[in-house]
Amino acid sequence: TDGQYIHPSILNADFMEIGGELDKIASADSVHVDIMDNHFVPNLTFGPGMVEQIVERSAIPVDAHLMIEDADREAPAFAEAGAASVTFHLEAASAPIKLARDLRRKNTEVGLALRPATAVEPLLDVIGEFDLLLLMTVEPGFGGQSFLESMLPKIRRARRAISEANLEVSIQVDGGVSRETIERCAEAGANVFVAGSAIYRAQDAAEEISALRELARG
Ligand code: DX5
Ligand code: ZN
Repeated sequence: TDGQYIHPSILNADFMEIGGELDKIASADSVHVDIMDNHFVPNLTFGPGMVEQIVERSAIPVDAHLMIEDADREAPAFAEAGAASVTFHLEAASAPIKLARDLRRKNTEVGLALRPATAVEPLLDVIGEFDLLLLMTVEPGFGGQSFLESMLPKIRRARRAISEANLEVSIQVDGGVSRETIERCAEAGANVFVAGSAIYRAQDAAEEISALRELARG
């Protein structure tokens, strides 16, 4: 968890030009790929085949964010596709610890994601099973939504619990992260920052990545 990491989300990229869109963000730390099944969220994106191609094409590691039902059954294919990390939602997993262990055996880092209304406290005793805790700062489903300020105390409580337990778990924030909100996320204890529209709607994606990185470092 040392350092601050910027993970551009390609959800708002131009899907017809995905190779060039990946080149634009080569200076970032990882590319965040949002997997949606039209059931867990009302939107549909990519499957493991596309992830495999993105892994091959991308200069940086792939961070797969699964917004899909039945994570227990579906998540392993994304690890096999070569994602460097696979994050699934607690709300969609029936045996999250078993799944985390299965994924780790496939040589991937494992993240646990929470929707905004899911409490973090019940998880704190098992968070050491994960490399990453993803705290959604919008309802998952779409890019370009506005940041939920009410998530800042949740980030702070999670960071405090992780430090008190002497664990090395990253806290990733996803949704509405921009120049306006990233400093408050970092100050609350997040260290991995997903930004979709902020980066893909900027004139110069590389410049936006470095500006966000500077602000996150404080
Ligand atoms: C939303 C996705 C996000 C999305 C973020 O469900 O998980 O990764 O792309 O987009 P912005 O940064 O525009 O809120
Ligand atoms: Zn995401």
